[in-house]
Amino acid sequence: MNDAAIGVFDSGMGGLTVMRALKARLPQERFVYLGDTARLPYGTKSANTVRRYALQAATALTRRGVKLVVIACNTASVSLPALKDALAPLPVVGVIEPGAEAALAAAQGAPIAVIATEGTVKGGAYVRAIEAKGGADVAQQACPLFVPLSEEGLTEGPIAEAIAHRYLDPLLATMPKPRCLLLGCTHYPALKDVIARVAGPEIALVDSAETTAEAVARLLKDEGLQAPPRASALPEFLVTDAPDRFARVGEIFLGEPIDPGTVELVDLQ
Ligand code: DGL
Repeated sequence: MNDAAIGVFDSGMGGLTVMRALKARLPQERFVYLGDTARLPYGTKSANTVRRYALQAATALTRRGVKLVVIACNTASVSLPALKDALAPLPVVGVIEPGAEAALAAAQGAPIAVIATEGTVKGGAYVRAIEAKGGADVAQQACPLFVPLSEEGLTEGPIAEAIAHRYLDPLLATMPKPRCLLLGCTHYPALKDVIARVAGPEIALVDSAETTAEAVARLLKDEGLQAPPRASALPEFLVTDAPDRFARVGEIFLGEPIDPGTVELVDLQ
């Protein structure tokens, strides 16, 4: 089992920002990434539909013999308890708790602003996770256009900037003023430069990628599932639509080129 890959999934390419941190933290591990590109976005769909999609994605990864599943999607983390039940004893890790931890550490007692998909905001997962870990005032804003914008590769320029102002200006004007802005969607780190500029220098930006990688590293160690030392292997990618586009645009999220030969089209239904 130690030799098996880690499975990672998202609705599209956003989860690649988490995989980037996982690869950096765990260079000896192999990864299989699944992007449900045919059904993106998850963020505007009901919790029941997202749960069904997440179960199908995780099941496809288990068929590839993975040793652990990372839900690299905040919206799909609504399915964490269901996936834990369905996949037991296979460990499953979500991004909400690690994200809440990162935000609390950065905010130092000040209010936290959370931007996320409509589904994540409505479900209140971050409000609950922050409360459970010690608590802070939380202001939330759904930013649905950030997902297509980043998947389109439109991560800079006047359009991205105008949309960021539209979402962030009212959120960051709330009183008392937040000191930390949590990117509660794995797509948003692709827009980090624009978001940071619009938010201003006194707001710390955090996301769940590094804290999730840390949680996965801890779990592998605790469960004795660490990979044996070896030369790093190329990740495998599974997508439900448009593999060429995934290979082309995915680099924005992963931070390194994706070889189109490593992207396979799969059907989850
Ligand atoms: N990347 C996903 C997240 O972290 C959401 C994108 C979508 O709406 O599908 O919430």
